[in-house]
Amino acid sequence: MVWVDGRLVPAARATVSALDRGLRSGEGLYETLRVRRRRAFRLAAHLERLEAGAAILTIPIESAAVRAGIAAVVTANDHLGDDVVVRVTCTAGPLDLTTPFPGTGVGPPTVVLTAQRTRAPDAPPRPPARGHLVDLRRELPTVKSTASLLSLVAQREARAHGASDAILCDPEGRPLEAAAANLAAVVDGQLVTAPISAGILGGVTRTALCEVATGCGLVVTERTLERGELLGAEEALLTSAVRGVQPLVRVDGQPIGDGTPGPVTARLRQGLEDLIEATAEPLELS
Ligand SMILES: Cc1ncc(COP(=O)(O)O)c(C=O)c1O
Repeated sequence: MVWVDGRLVPAARATVSALDRGLRSGEGLYETLRVRRRRAFRLAAHLERLEAGAAILTIPIESAAVRAGIAAVVTANDHLGDDVVVRVTCTAGPLDLTTPFPGTGVGPPTVVLTAQRTRAPDAPPRPPARGHLVDLRRELPTVKSTASLLSLVAQREARAHGASDAILCDPEGRPLEAAAANLAAVVDGQLVTAPISAGILGGVTRTALCEVATGCGLVVTERTLERGELLGAEEALLTSAVRGVQPLVRVDGQPIGDGTPGPVTARLRQGLEDLIEATAEPLELS
């Protein structure tokens, strides 16, 4: 079942307007958040980011309705099991065709919510990531936009090079973040990750990772890594709501550290899982 504009409907019968501005021009936002046993991890942070993006794109999103929809779609998809990812997609709604570019809307925004498994129940654990450096930068990097063509193109390029993830670089060629995840590295025993001001998405998991790292006694430094620093790092890792902490063991074919998941990454991964378990909040079911 999916949630479309306030109603639960079977996925195969769900529809949105052919004039939807998300479809026509990519005017949309999305969030993916982790829900474990009907408890959401950092829902408020996801909704805050959605609202901030909506303010930039002038999409009048009602967070209370999204919150209610998340609870409803999770309940309706109970069969998926304990650990699911909820995707929230909000677009600017239908376009008034009589208005000049960029046009104005008729009616409210479109809100679509889906719940999916993080992984198939019998699937092996996600293998470590292998990165490929790509000289592309996301537009409006702080907006988690559905217009993710650049990430998509970068990711396809990475896959064509035998890597699992594109790592997007700044104009100086310094690695910033992956196409759909944040990047961090262990350099001289410190956890280094790019600052938001470098033009990355402020990942909810990245924030949690920094808290976990500090709690483990690691020094966390927010600065942009040099390319050589990443390649010479002791360990590197990617974070997102979907993957949690994932070791990054190769970049452009070169091993990071000894090319296998390292002990700091393992500690941070476990720390994040423990934090999710301890702090995820029950969804309010109506
Ligand atoms: C470009 C980019 N960076 C980082 C992230 C990770 O964000 P979060 O931890 O909130 O899932 C994502 C998630 O989709 C992303 O698309």
